[in-house]
Amino acid sequence: MKHMLSLFLCLAAMTATAQVQLTVDADKVQCAVSPTLYGLMTEEINYCYEGGLYSQLIRDPQMRETRPDGRRRRGPQDDNRPKHWIWNDSTATWTNTGYWGIAVRPETVYRGKMEAAGNAVISVGLRSTKDGRVFAQDLIKTKGPKGWYDFTLRTTPTVEATKDAEFFLHYVDTGRCRLSYVSLTPVSKKQVTVKSDLYRTDLMDMLRDMHPKFLRFPGGNYLEGNRFSERYWWQRTLGPVENRPGHQCCWGYWSTDGMGLLEFLCWCEEMGAEPILGVFAGYVLSGDYVTGKALDGFIEEALDEIEYVIGDASTEWGARRVADGHPEPFPLHYVEVGNEDFFDRSGSYAERYTRFYEAIKAKYPQLEVISTEMSDKMKRLARDWKMEERMKLDIIDEHYYRGFKDMLRQCHMYDKYDRKGPKVFCGEWATREGDPTTNMMAALGDAAWMVGMERNSDVVIAQCYAPLFVNVNPGGMQWKSDLIGYDALNAYGSPSYYAQCMFAGNIGTEVVETVCDSVPRMKQDDATVDQFYCVATRDKAAHKLYLKMVNAGETPLKVRLNFKGEKLAAKAVQTVLTADSMNATNSITDPKAVVPQTKTVKISRKTTLTLPARSIHVLAL
Ligand code: AHR
Repeated sequence: MKHMLSLFLCLAAMTATAQVQLTVDADKVQCAVSPTLYGLMTEEINYCYEGGLYSQLIRDPQMRETRPDGRRRRGPQDDNRPKHWIWNDSTATWTNTGYWGIAVRPETVYRGKMEAAGNAVISVGLRSTKDGRVFAQDLIKTKGPKGWYDFTLRTTPTVEATKDAEFFLHYVDTGRCRLSYVSLTPVSKKQVTVKSDLYRTDLMDMLRDMHPKFLRFPGGNYLEGNRFSERYWWQRTLGPVENRPGHQCCWGYWSTDGMGLLEFLCWCEEMGAEPILGVFAGYVLSGDYVTGKALDGFIEEALDEIEYVIGDASTEWGARRVADGHPEPFPLHYVEVGNEDFFDRSGSYAERYTRFYEAIKAKYPQLEVISTEMSDKMKRLARDWKMEERMKLDIIDEHYYRGFKDMLRQCHMYDKYDRKGPKVFCGEWATREGDPTTNMMAALGDAAWMVGMERNSDVVIAQCYAPLFVNVNPGGMQWKSDLIGYDALNAYGSPSYYAQCMFAGNIGTEVVETVCDSVPRMKQDDATVDQFYCVATRDKAAHKLYLKMVNAGETPLKVRLNFKGEKLAAKAVQTVLTADSMNATNSITDPKAVVPQTKTVKISRKTTLTLPARSIHVLAL
């Protein structure tokens, strides 16, 4: 009886596990893989630089808003100028808790800088917000007219890592002193570029693990701003950070612009990625726009910006970059005109885009120009504006934020794209499930969507997830479902983050044929979608084949693999991301609940693998 029951259970399990037939022919090349397929998108959102990647620990270093008790706010009311604080008694203390705490770590050197005028002795340091314990301190003696004072804070090996810390300035000797700027950044142990100290090391390491080929910046909405005065005005982000006016960011907080154009470019360099440069195109989020003569200045501004990136020392802006400390031009192939201009209901983008395109191509014919819109409405306007007679549409930036069901439903979208039409830059996309960072369900939707893009890499030449970062403290998030979460001290990757690392880190140079039979369909709310997705690429020179598979369903799947073509390696490295439930996720307190596991598996021409429910696989062989 017992045996009968086990047999029955076994048979039931066998029938429950559907079987997919998958033939991978390594000799049947479908298309080349775009060398820029996997990249990153960034903008100031979710306290992404301020309180995020930008390693400035002091919130409001220009002391614009921080009014210590009993101190007077001095200085002109022009918002673009720093304010000054006057101290003239010996009890004055100024504290700064950074962005939801300041990260203190053992054996760390912090470099500080203060602008002050007057005679005073000031003690500066880092201390616990819990019990006042001082972790590190230094003494500054100011003298005479306004000047800069450097200081250094060093923690000992016995200091425990904490984010419950604040920076303090304490007046220890009488006199009169005016302060206008205080900054503090940890010194990075990994110096890659002159700017290495400016990027938070743990976040930078996580980004490198994503193997990005490009960084799309500076937005997103952040490029446009709510109004013209709040757009990303690149010239104002150059030079010493203390002289940068900063600006109100469209996501509701102040940006010091410490992460300026040169910092974005060096960030690319730090990761071995190229910039995809978004240039402001005369349209802001409130719906205001300019056309005709009024556009001239913005076009010139964009040309100057490109010159700053790639010009040599004989050009005005190339020389400025050299003076700013970066003699070599940066590599640049793509420039994007505006962001999401399909929101511009006036239809002015046809003119704006055409004018930018013509000016950029006239001066830099080697650059590819990306348009942010090509809807039917735009096509009609383009006809009126005789756009297509005047130019070729190189690349269109498409954005897709969707739930799990819709992501799966649209996975085959690019299979049907016109091969003779413009190329696609999928410059923002995400499966929006889970917050602040995404869950396993989102990672499955993302993986299936990436399969579709990778398989169609002749059309989709580049793609990047958005948003990249979120500060998980209350008030830190403006946009749900993000890739990487952090507080002042720790950071973690969402399941979607790990799916990105797996996909970008395992890719060949050519897409090869995969033929799937008996793919089960599954119900997802009111829709029926495929349960299984796959793509294969090869790197002929390296004799490598990469097979990516996704089981997006709640049941296991058997895959009968039939490898054809080039001789196979006997072993493969299999990386698997899976979880017990669709809602499973990582968090700041449980950062490694869902992470990929890697093992070596034997592979022959005909192999059967069982893919657990809710799983993403990469086979590298
Ligand atoms: O990624 C968040 C926002 O979504 C971007 O700023 C904008 O381009 C899009 O609407």
